[in-house]
Amino acid sequence: MSPQIVPSHDTTALRIDIDRLLQRLADLAAIGAIEGTEGCARLALTDEDKAGRDLVVAAMRDLDLEVTIDGIGNVVGVMAGQTNGPPVMCGSHIDTVRTGGRYDGNLGVLAGLEVIEVVKAAGITPYRPLAVAFFTDEEGARYSPDMLGSLVYVGGMPLEQALGIVGIDDTVVGEELERIGYAGSSPLPGAAPHSFVELHVEQGPVLEAEGITIGAVDGVQGISWQEVTVTGQSNHAGTTPMRLRKDPGFVAAACANFVRTLATELGEPQVGTVGRIELHPNLVNVVPASATFTVDIRNTDELVLQEAEKRFAEFLTETAETEGCTIEVKELARFEPVIFDERVIEMVSSTATALGHSVKRMPSGAGHDAQMLARVCPTAMVFTPSRDGISHNPTEYTSPADLEAGANVMLHVMLALASEDAGLALASEDGTL
Ligand code: GLV
Ligand code: MN
Ligand code: MN
Repeated sequence: MSPQIVPSHDTTALRIDIDRLLQRLADLAAIGAIEGTEGCARLALTDEDKAGRDLVVAAMRDLDLEVTIDGIGNVVGVMAGQTNGPPVMCGSHIDTVRTGGRYDGNLGVLAGLEVIEVVKAAGITPYRPLAVAFFTDEEGARYSPDMLGSLVYVGGMPLEQALGIVGIDDTVVGEELERIGYAGSSPLPGAAPHSFVELHVEQGPVLEAEGITIGAVDGVQGISWQEVTVTGQSNHAGTTPMRLRKDPGFVAAACANFVRTLATELGEPQVGTVGRIELHPNLVNVVPASATFTVDIRNTDELVLQEAEKRFAEFLTETAETEGCTIEVKELARFEPVIFDERVIEMVSSTATALGHSVKRMPSGAGHDAQMLARVCPTAMVFTPSRDGISHNPTEYTSPADLEAGANVMLHVMLALASEDAGLALASEDGTL
């Protein structure tokens, strides 16, 4: 028997409930809250992450979603559609950096719950199922690479390899997943959705500076993360003449300076950051024995990114050699720039316009789960402005009006994706046109 299309409701008047969304954001932010701030610390697979996960899973169950958990701890909640095909999926992450805000990642997941709640309350069953997902360790702050869960979901890394990753605190992904009860059994790689839409705060200054409400994100810049360990000769800071030093601290500092100068020389959108430096033994009167530091460089142009990597490698080798130090370089993450699906980008843009919001096409400076999902299905993102362009910081803030605008854009893009080609698909299932 061929499926019937239930006459479509007029969904144009549907809107999300901003108070409910704000409440969900506040409830999640209360877990791992950083005292005296609006922000939170829920590093991936910690007790705080577990408590956050439990809260979101409970909300999924309250909405009668079918909840599945896979072997890397990604959680997907599905609302049935009129048909059984792949769902229109939204989602993001709920892990945070140690000094995180309440919007980064959380917004995309909680707005997904809100979208489904609104659709359900209106009594609508979309042609395709709708899904909301949160992916494990998007931040990469505890376990590299970033976007780990979504990378495994799309088959970009074998599960066994991911489970063996050791974190900054010497914990192991697989053991922590078991410990918090999120080592699930849903198969990996995960099933490709029909399409994927991620709502996220911009985390940069562009939308606010230009007075624009919605970013129609057309891609994500390439990311290169390395961890460098420099080993020299630890010695007395007072007695060792400068000409005899083998000082890893000096090499690390010179590299940090070089990364900054290099990014400035290459020009925007090149960025470069040394975000972590650890000296050993880290004492006032000891020339360090070793220095370990991270380098994060990004560009939307793969060739320029490669050029930046090459110039950094040359500088590091030469500086360490001159100082008489040895080096070890470990790649933590390397993702090429990603271009999103033109049709979905256009849907984001036209939906924003139809809802009366100003909109601008733009690339993303931050990494996102959407860049992984783009490997397996048509994907794009919706950005909302970030006050002062601040993120990865407890003061991260987006106004309720902008959150509401972004969530409504996602709602209507998802509804459109969930019903597009419905007639055609039914006809071909029937074998007739
Ligand atoms: C991940 O959130 C990143 O862009 O660093
Ligand atoms: Mn994020
Ligand atoms: Mn982040």
